[in-house]
Amino acid sequence: MKVLITGAAGFIAGHLCKRLIGEGHHVVGVDSLDPYYDLSIKRARLKTLSSENAFEWIEGDLCDKDVSEACVSKNIDLVIHLAARPGVRSSLDDPYGTFQRNLMATIQLLEAMKRHGVKKMVFASSSSVYGGTAKPPFREQDAGESPLSPYAASKRSVELLLNCYVNNIPLGATSLRFFTVYGPYGRPDMAIGKFAQFLFEEREAPLYGTGEAIRDFTYVSDTVDGICRAADNLEEGTHKIYNLGGGNRVSMLKVIELLEKYSGKTLKLKRLPAFSSDMKVTEACPDKAKEELGWFPKVSIEEGIERTVAWARTKYGTPCAES
Ligand SMILES: NC(=O)c1ccc[n+]([C@@H]2O[C@H](COP(=O)([O-])OP(=O)(O)OC[C@H]3O[C@@H](n4cnc5c(N)ncnc54)[C@H](O)[C@@H]3O)[C@@H](O)[C@H]2O)c1
Repeated sequence: MKVLITGAAGFIAGHLCKRLIGEGHHVVGVDSLDPYYDLSIKRARLKTLSSENAFEWIEGDLCDKDVSEACVSKNIDLVIHLAARPGVRSSLDDPYGTFQRNLMATIQLLEAMKRHGVKKMVFASSSSVYGGTAKPPFREQDAGESPLSPYAASKRSVELLLNCYVNNIPLGATSLRFFTVYGPYGRPDMAIGKFAQFLFEEREAPLYGTGEAIRDFTYVSDTVDGICRAADNLEEGTHKIYNLGGGNRVSMLKVIELLEKYSGKTLKLKRLPAFSSDMKVTEACPDKAKEELGWFPKVSIEEGIERTVAWARTKYGTPCAES
């Protein structure tokens, strides 16, 4: 199968590309190399893919009609759409940039898919769509009316857009609401990635709020597994939505305890006020993904953090660490 992965230099995409190539698929990867966070991490991920014959790289912005067109015109069977400006907090400072990359880019992509008859899309949505009013554990039908950030609103907007497209063109789509994904090559703007780096660099790490906020963490290989299962279950004329999370619901303080346990180091914390855009709790109800996709998370938070710390040690722990 020939698969277009958007946001291919990103964290989750890097792991997904490896899995699909390992399964014998041909992957076309596109990314704008958005400097939202340290580009050396995106380049390091791409370096791990560059030797693969089954990986074709396109650098470009999907907002540009010609780029979307060029990606989709390569006899693509399936689009896995991960490209986005991912920050919840930063979206308050740049709502326009967030909607441009998250919604307008998706419209360009869908229009290109329409022109080229590409009929399958898996879209990376987010637990943030549950906003300030849904009661945990979050069920798929609870989302939508009170997003706390432009980022959350942009993700919900794409879900609604997909409802519209599956009614109007031959398309099967699935939106997957990811719950705080972490692991090796993780994003340095997210807590686990940042804390693991700062532990080894012995820098003071910002902790927003009391550390009691609860997150439902998902190890990246579980998220990738869910994406693959969703891709195998697409149905033309329908837009399905699933939570990809559940089972690893812990506080930030617990995460810090585990990071310290597996690194053997103590994290220096700088306590800062909580953000109004941050949800106090995220908790997925995983039942629908389990029943319909046979998906459930296999990697415990302990095991996932141990693996992440092992990777961070090689990257940040020694002066001659490979980037
Ligand atoms: N990591 C998580 O915990 C999490 C949780 C919920 C949802 N998500 C969603 O999953 C997807 C992947 O997340 P990630 O953590 O790997 O993020 P990431 O930032 O590492 O990857 C996204 C990539 O998209 C690229 N991109 C942005 N706009 C683009 C555009 N217009 N054209 C081409 N490329 C563009 C960026 O350069 C980046 O490399 C995103 O859509 C994100 O919103 C992630």
